[in-house]
Amino acid sequence: MTSMTINGEAIRYKLDPETPLLFALRDASNLTGAKHGCYSGDCGTCTVIVDGRAVLSCQLTIAVAEGADVTTIEGLASDRAHPLQQAWASEQVSQCGRCDPGFIMALVALMRATPSPSPEQLSSLPNICRCGATVRMMKAIARAVAVAAPLAPTSQELAPGQDSSSRFSNGSSDEAQIPPNDS
Ligand code: FES
Ligand code: FES
Repeated sequence: MTSMTINGEAIRYKLDPETPLLFALRDASNLTGAKHGCYSGDCGTCTVIVDGRAVLSCQLTIAVAEGADVTTIEGLASDRAHPLQQAWASEQVSQCGRCDPGFIMALVALMRATPSPSPEQLSSLPNICRCGATVRMMKAIARAVAVAAPLAPTSQELAPGQDSSSRFSNGSSDEAQIPPNDS
C-alpha cells in the first residue's frame, strides 16, 4: 500500500510500489491530464508537481512518492482559472493539446519560484511541443508573467530548508525543471 496526497485528497494505492506515478494517476485515479509521451524522461508531457517541484511522473515510482503532496493539472485551479491556463486560452496556444498539461505544470513550478523566468530558464525545461506551438506559448507566458503576483510561492510550497530532492534521484526533473535557488 502506498499513500500520498493527490490534489488535496488522501490516496492509498494497492499497486506494485514500482509503478510509475504517471500510470497510477492515469489508470488508478483516472487523472488523465498528465500524458504518456516518451516514458524516457525526454518530453515533459507527464509533468506534475510533487512537494512543490515539477516532476516527470513517468520517472518517479509511487514508492518514491510515498507521503508526497502531488498536484496534477486537474487540481491546479477550479474552472481552469489559473493565470497560465487563462493565458493559454487567450493566446489559443493549444493545437493537439497533448503537451499543454505538462508545460503548464512545469511553468507553474518555475514561476512560483521565479515569477518572471528568463529565456534560458524557459528553454531549460524538458518539455517539448510536437505541434510547434512554441511561439504562442511564449506569448501566453508573457501574458501570465504580467499577472505574476498570484503565482508567487506560498510558505508551504517553499518552506525554508525544504529539500525533497531525494525523491527525484531517478533521472527525473530536479535539475532541468527546478530553477536554482539563487536565480
Ligand atoms: S512521458 Fe515523456 S518525460 Fe515522461
Ligand atoms: S500542441 Fe500538440 S504537442 Fe504541443
